[in-house]
Amino acid sequence: MIKVEGLTKRYDRFEAVHGIDFEVEKGQIVGFLGPNGAGKTTTMRILTCFMPPTEGKASVAGFDVMTQSMEVKKRIGYLPETPPLYPEMEVEEYLTFVGRLKGMPAAEIPSRVKQVSERCAVADVSKKLISKLSKGYRQRVGLAQALLHNPDVLVLDEPTAGLDPKQIHETRDLIRSLGGEHTIILSTHILPEVEQTCEYVVIISKGKLVAKDSVANLTSRLRGQETVSVEIEGRVDAGAVKERLEKVDGVSRVTAKEERGGGLVVEVESVAGRNVRTEVARAVVNAGWGLHELKTASVSLEEIFLELTAPEQGDDKGKKK
Ligand SMILES: Nc1ncnc2c1ncn2[C@@H]1O[C@H](COP(=O)(O)OP(=O)(O)O)[C@@H](O)[C@H]1O
Ligand SMILES: [Mg+2]
Repeated sequence: MIKVEGLTKRYDRFEAVHGIDFEVEKGQIVGFLGPNGAGKTTTMRILTCFMPPTEGKASVAGFDVMTQSMEVKKRIGYLPETPPLYPEMEVEEYLTFVGRLKGMPAAEIPSRVKQVSERCAVADVSKKLISKLSKGYRQRVGLAQALLHNPDVLVLDEPTAGLDPKQIHETRDLIRSLGGEHTIILSTHILPEVEQTCEYVVIISKGKLVAKDSVANLTSRLRGQETVSVEIEGRVDAGAVKERLEKVDGVSRVTAKEERGGGLVVEVESVAGRNVRTEVARAVVNAGWGLHELKTASVSLEEIFLELTAPEQGDDKGKKK
């Protein structure tokens, strides 16, 4: 439904988005995750035809954002970072106005305004001035305007930013309920948001793609398995340690991490549901190495996110292979 290929955006000489590729299938809810300044808003503005890419291509429902923007706009609803609201208008009046702007048939507008107002839980404030609304209500009016022409695709830029916990909860429920019927890409810099709302995640950092996978895959890759950190005393050969520990039943991977104070630290990953600590300890001792420390190094999605988006680490990922 959404296809992004080698997308690059330069502002003057500053490259905000650097050759990213991803696809979103019909009916998916995809989280577009990255720290502030990663290039999320830039990418979303390109997808919604607000500005052209410098290089690369993007298409929505098979229509190119550059050459077929009218077709794209018909199929896309956009909630920008700051919803495009008119404070001096009443909610119903505003949504009616948006309907006209979007070129919807006049006869359809009132019933559609009513429908989206109910769907987005703003029907009870339809005669209120937008300036008098709470942030949560305003955000839902923003969602209602994005939904008004019943687009296939919704592009939501940080839809829960600035909301209180209760409003965040309500907004997430609403977004989840829109999935399936609509294809949704939502940006966020908050990880739990992705875990709670999305099925897939595209992670960017400094304009570069760092990961794309299903949330279930990423989470089980990181949570279902246990990682044990083992510190061995003295001068030992990392290759020999790796070879020995990889033979332990239930161990899936051994990575030499660092040499510390004359010792060696390795990380031992196990297959989901296996506790390999006792066997790993036994293997180290039986090999005649000094076991200095053995502890669980649990890895969360949070940690992988931090690692993937850290300034120093992951720099090689962006380099040409
Ligand atoms: N109009 C612009 N001119 C110059 N630089 C910009 C402009 N808009 C955004 N940037 C820069 O591009 C980078 C990505 O911004 P943005 O896409 O807004 O990131 P995000 O939404 O992930 O926080 C930032 O470093 C930002 O300062
Ligand atoms: Mg942004």
